[in-house]
Amino acid sequence: MKQKKLLYTGKAKSVYRTDAKGTLIVEFRDDITAFDGGKKDTLKNKGSYNAGVSAFFFSYLEKNGVKTHFLEMLDENRMAVRELSMIPLEVIVRNFAAGSIVRNYPFVEGSPLKPPVIVIDYKDDSRHDPMLNDELIVALKLATPTELKKIKTIALKINTLLVGLLAKEGITLVDFKLEFGRQNKTIYLGDEISMDSMRLWDKKTGESLDKDVYRFNKGDVMATYNRVAARITRAPKTASAGKKAKSSKKPEKRTR
Ligand code: CDP
Repeated sequence: MKQKKLLYTGKAKSVYRTDAKGTLIVEFRDDITAFDGGKKDTLKNKGSYNAGVSAFFFSYLEKNGVKTHFLEMLDENRMAVRELSMIPLEVIVRNFAAGSIVRNYPFVEGSPLKPPVIVIDYKDDSRHDPMLNDELIVALKLATPTELKKIKTIALKINTLLVGLLAKEGITLVDFKLEFGRQNKTIYLGDEISMDSMRLWDKKTGESLDKDVYRFNKGDVMATYNRVAARITRAPKTASAGKKAKSSKKPEKRTR
C-alpha cells in the first residue's frame, strides 16, 4: 500500500490517503500536547508507544465483537485504517472521578462511579470541546437517537472489556475517550485508545500511568509510556468478553 497525500494533521496524529480505496494511514507522531494545545513537546518514541497500545486494544476489541477502523500496523508509527466519516463527539467513559468532572462538579477524586458515567463532549477546539447532552446531539444532527444509543452501548462494552484486560496487569482504568465514525450506516470505533486518551492508575501504588504524568509534570513521561505500553501489550488477549474483572479496590487517595 502506498501512502499518498496528507489529508489532515491533528495535535498528535496525521492522516494520509493511500492508493487503496477506502483505506487511510494514521501516523502517530512524537508530538504531545495538553491543556488545549497550551503545553506542547516532541518526545522521542512517543508515537510508537501509543500506536502499539492502540493496535493491541483494537485487535482485542475486534476479537470480542467490537467493530473498529483498525486494519494493520505498517510500521511502528503507522496504522492502516478503514476510512470513516467521523462523528465530532468525544465519548468519555468514567469509572472513577478524576480530571474535569472533579474540577467542575463536587466529586471527590478517586471515588468510584458505579455504574460508569458516560460524558459526551462536542469535538471542537475553537469552542473548547463543550459538554453535550442527548437533546443537543440530536438537535445539532451530530447523531440520530438510534446511533447515539448504539454508541453508548458500544462504549460501555469497550469499557467492560478494557477494565478486565487492564485489571490483569494491575492497572485501574479510571476514564478514557473514544471517537466513532460511520461507513455507510455502520458505526465503527475510530481514532486511538492510548496513554494520551486514557487515565490509568497503578492499582498498588496509585501512580499515574498516562498523559497526566505530562500534564502535571509527575515524572519521566516517556519512561512511563514505555513501561505501561509493555505492561499492557503483554496482557493475555484471550481474556473472554464480559468476564468480570477482579473487584477493584478503591484507588489510593490522590493529590493533584
Ligand atoms: O482532565 P482533562 O481536562 O484532560 O479531561 P477529562 O474530561 O477529565 O478527560 C477524561 C478522559 O478523556 C481522560 O482520560 C483524557 O485523557 C481523555 N480525553 C482525551 O483523550 N481527549 C480530550 N480532548 C479530552 C479528554
